Amino acid sequence: MRLLQLVQRQAGIARRKAKALIDRGEVRLDGELVLDPFQEVDPEAVRELEVQGRRVPLERKEPVVYKLYKPREMLSSLYDPKYPHTVGRLLRRRGLQGLGLAIAGRLDRDAEGLLLLTNDGELVNLLTHPRYEVEKVYHVAIPRLLPYRHIYEIFRKMQRGVRDEGERLRIRRGRIVRRTKDGTVLELVLTEGKKHEVKRLIRHFKLPLERLVRVAHGPVTLGSLKPGELTRLTAPERAALESLKKRLYSTGSKAR
Ligand code: URA
Repeated sequence: MRLLQLVQRQAGIARRKAKALIDRGEVRLDGELVLDPFQEVDPEAVRELEVQGRRVPLERKEPVVYKLYKPREMLSSLYDPKYPHTVGRLLRRRGLQGLGLAIAGRLDRDAEGLLLLTNDGELVNLLTHPRYEVEKVYHVAIPRLLPYRHIYEIFRKMQRGVRDEGERLRIRRGRIVRRTKDGTVLELVLTEGKKHEVKRLIRHFKLPLERLVRVAHGPVTLGSLKPGELTRLTAPERAALESLKKRLYSTGSKAR
């Protein structure tokens, strides 16, 4: 196993964060400073792992994954000194603060829907790193009846990619979920995870945005979860994530 994976797994943090800590010299193995994130380590032989001056327990943490319907106005953060309505507060209320859960891909405060939470740092990385191209599916409510021609033109342009603040934003595909006189709901499938990407795409076409809901992340869907509900993944959902992990690790060597 690589040092990076050990730190991710035992400290329950994302790959990027683990790498930054190793690069900054904040990780010690058996008392020695280690600076190469790709150094091979035998987890059975390690006696002590220290991250930012603190000893990290070495027993194998059982990986757990939860899904949450983040309601509007809840902050996708474990703690915020200025705003108490956070995912972290919900975890503390449910007595889950000791599991070392991290949020795999945040949602804006005014967005809602599926958030995956896990103590499996590798999984966080797989679900969020753009190189793995894991699909995130959003439903976007636009309070306007849009002509079909206009919608398909928008999808075409979004698939080709639009430029915004020096970045190219694009969707993998789109479809119409609902179209009534009161408004239009579009489904957009994205794989990159850029900041405010859906809002920026919608703004590019000068459309108003009433509601933004993430309905799926990789193979896991929001299903019948209600706003504020948090539940452990079912066995089939866990199995779907495991097979995604296997598939991405066997083909997605770009990020290794
Ligand atoms: N795109 C956004 O603009 N906001 C989100 O919260 C998620 C995707």
